[in-house]
Amino acid sequence: MIAITGATGQLGHLVINILLKTIPPDQIIAAVRNPDKASELAAQGVIVRLADYNRPETLEAAFVGVDKLLLISSSEVGQREKQHKAVIQAAKKSGVGLIAYTSLLHADTSPLGLGVEHRATEAALKDSGIPYVLLRNGWYTENYAASTASALAHGAFIGAAGEGRIASAPRKDYAEAATVVLQLDDQAGKVYELAGDSSYSLAEFAAEISKQSGKNVNYVNLSEADFAKALKDAGLPAGLTEMLADSDAGAEKGALFDDSHTLRHLIGRTTTPYADVIKATLATL
Ligand SMILES: NC(=O)c1ccc[n+]([C@@H]2O[C@H](COP(=O)([O-])OP(=O)(O)OC[C@H]3O[C@@H](n4cnc5c(N)ncnc54)[C@H](OP(=O)(O)O)[C@@H]3O)[C@@H](O)[C@H]2O)c1
Repeated sequence: MIAITGATGQLGHLVINILLKTIPPDQIIAAVRNPDKASELAAQGVIVRLADYNRPETLEAAFVGVDKLLLISSSEVGQREKQHKAVIQAAKKSGVGLIAYTSLLHADTSPLGLGVEHRATEAALKDSGIPYVLLRNGWYTENYAASTASALAHGAFIGAAGEGRIASAPRKDYAEAATVVLQLDDQAGKVYELAGDSSYSLAEFAAEISKQSGKNVNYVNLSEADFAKALKDAGLPAGLTEMLADSDAGAEKGALFDDSHTLRHLIGRTTTPYADVIKATLATL
């Protein structure tokens, strides 16, 4: 029995759809904070259980009978250490055999502010005594592709990553890796640094948008503070603007780069090129 938290989120949804190709639905538990959102999964025969990171009393029951648990890191940045610790404690009480945790690329050394909660979660996993495996996910290519429409509108792709190289991959590649790890034996203690096969600078990313769209898009590099301000002026919420600006500053130092090709080895194919993600994004505009 495999349970997936955050199963109604984007990554969780992909993971379950891939698992359904090889595992009967009644061996998959979608552990979600809002079961109404999971009605489509329930209709396919997936077991849906209430599991709200903020309501520890829901978690223990959600994990009863679970052999392997994919803990998809929460989207509530700032709350995650407490939330993830609640999941780990409940998993311990319920006798979960293995936790796979979606951490951050090079979480142990990452300069990103996002690394703090991931390091705390990794430490809690270690302290728990539960066998665990770390899926240290790199950046989603979608994070940058999301700026395509605005880049086309302004003829400028803004960022603060300088010449930093980014080895990202789309969610579907990380989702596939998670499903592989969940179905392999002897995963306890493993640490996977997952990143795309090819890397790019944001200037190259902007040039690819130009090439495919036929419209001129230049990369404009800003200071971390100016980038945060530009995002704020564009209407993004304060916490998110700082997080994105901090992540770009980290990218300049190489925090989003890895050339181990671990992701490719896990999924048994080349990772999806960023040009493909841009192409798919342009098709939606
Ligand atoms: N590597 C990267 O570039 C990158 C980028 C963004 C995020 N991330 C991390 O990766 C995770 C998965 O990415 P994603 O794209 O799938 O994010 P997402 O679509 O925002 O999904 C996050 C999931 O977390 C669930 N969640 C939030 N608070 C919860 C709570 N209190 N109790 C139970 N579940 C809760 C959400 O539930 P609902 O469905 O009910 O909203 C959702 O299913 C994110 O949460 C974040 O930690 C990584």
